[in-house]
Amino acid sequence: MRRVLTYGTFDLLHHGHIRILKRAKALGDFLVVAISTDEFNAGKGKKSFHDYETRKEIVEAIRYVDLVIPEESWEQKLDDVKRYDIDIVAMGDDWAGSDRFDYLKDHCELVFLPRTEGISTTEIKEDLGRGGQ
Ligand code: CTP
Repeated sequence: MRRVLTYGTFDLLHHGHIRILKRAKALGDFLVVAISTDEFNAGKGKKSFHDYETRKEIVEAIRYVDLVIPEESWEQKLDDVKRYDIDIVAMGDDWAGSDRFDYLKDHCELVFLPRTEGISTTEIKEDLGRGGQ
């Protein structure tokens, strides 16, 4: 049983999210998704459209996802890897080379998956702000 872990906000769910979750799950047998809490996002100066409980409910309903946990701090990752017996941490390649993840290589496999081109939560918000144009 190979256990995979990934992190994200997953606000205004889109096909980029679905594709990365599908590919992350395909790396193993059990997928844990750590979703950033509203407090953690506020600390980064970000505010999601849907609150944490709503984003959790949506992501839990995705067939590739086995467990959702809260992401509450930058420092929790190693604890998560140990607590959930994680073999692989998988992230979008926008995080490749980041100090936020690199040290995990000593404790599990670290995989960066290519992002889906042309879509992001930020773009959706911007487009809707322009009336969907
Ligand atoms: N992701 C992806 N392809 C996209 C958008 C996101 O593979 N087009 C991945 C990210 O790399 C990350 C996960 O989905 O591993 C969650 O990303 P998140 O930041 O929640 O989504 P974004 O759409 O990137 O949101 P934002 O625009 O707010 O940064």
